[in-house]
Amino acid sequence: MRKISLTGIKPTGSLHIGNYFGAIKPALELTKEYDARYFIADYHALNTMKDPKELNATIRHVAAGWLAAGLDPEKVIFYRQSAIPEIFELTAMLMAFTAKGLMNRAHAYKAAVQENGEKGDDTDAGINMGLYTYPVLMAADIIIFDSDVVPVGKDQVQHIEMAQDIAQSVNANYGKQVLKIPQPAVQEDFAVVPGMDGRKMSKSYGNTIPLFAPEKTLQKTIMRIVTNSQSVEEPKNPDESQIFQLYKLFTQSGEQDAFAKRYRAGGMGWGDAKEELFRVVNRELSPIRERYDAIMADIPALDKILEQGAERARPIAAATVKRFRKAAGID
Ligand code: TRP
Repeated sequence: MRKISLTGIKPTGSLHIGNYFGAIKPALELTKEYDARYFIADYHALNTMKDPKELNATIRHVAAGWLAAGLDPEKVIFYRQSAIPEIFELTAMLMAFTAKGLMNRAHAYKAAVQENGEKGDDTDAGINMGLYTYPVLMAADIIIFDSDVVPVGKDQVQHIEMAQDIAQSVNANYGKQVLKIPQPAVQEDFAVVPGMDGRKMSKSYGNTIPLFAPEKTLQKTIMRIVTNSQSVEEPKNPDESQIFQLYKLFTQSGEQDAFAKRYRAGGMGWGDAKEELFRVVNRELSPIRERYDAIMADIPALDKILEQGAERARPIAAATVKRFRKAAGID
């Protein structure tokens, strides 16, 4: 039997090329080797997104984005978390095995508490129970599908370790393997994509390059990448330039060597470098953008794909809950 890869995608913003290289591509690569279960974590998004229109649109945007990028819903079970009620039943069960102290140590919660402290606010200000218990829901997401590996960014590794802890307490209590213990799969090579200002590309830094912007907007965005004040004539160091770092993501060694030569020779201004970057970015993104536009033009068909994914997922989820209930004496 093939092993199971599972990951959740929180629909909280517009997809950008950091998501594409840092999450989408590596997760799709794993679908060649694993039975994949990928889902839109819409109840996770509810913790922070309270505008219904925005949340609704973001769910579709993100789902369409993954499909446009090549997720094959015949091969991958692709669904919305909210369509699997068993996840929330399992969450309630896992709560009984989750130490409150474990949640106190979660990075996201600790950071929120610390930020409140620095502002002189009440330490609990703006923190809802959804944020506090986030790792339990995430553990349920993972454990319910008997996942072997969970492809995630470094920031999520602690959550996977908590899922391991929680599943282990269940197994230890009943003296047998009721729940499978998942492993994180961190994609080191892809981990950091530089943003417009050279820092890690991230929505929170406002330095992103959108994945599905119209061609003209994409070009304008790339032309705004921050550069130093070197003149056209000056030779430049490709390794100190985020334009070149981004270029590498979209090209093979032949084009990279040629571009690096132009940097070192001098005579290439930053405007020219950005034009060349735009050319290769647009080459890769055009077909994805066209597929995205086509998918977004038929939302009922998109919803149907997600519903069909949920139909395939639910019996698997129900079996895990049943196994746990039986072990627990609630059957
Ligand atoms: N917490 C993840 C994030 O912020 C999203 C997520 C929710 C997830 N449930 C998951 C990731 C289960 C992996 C497995 O991106």
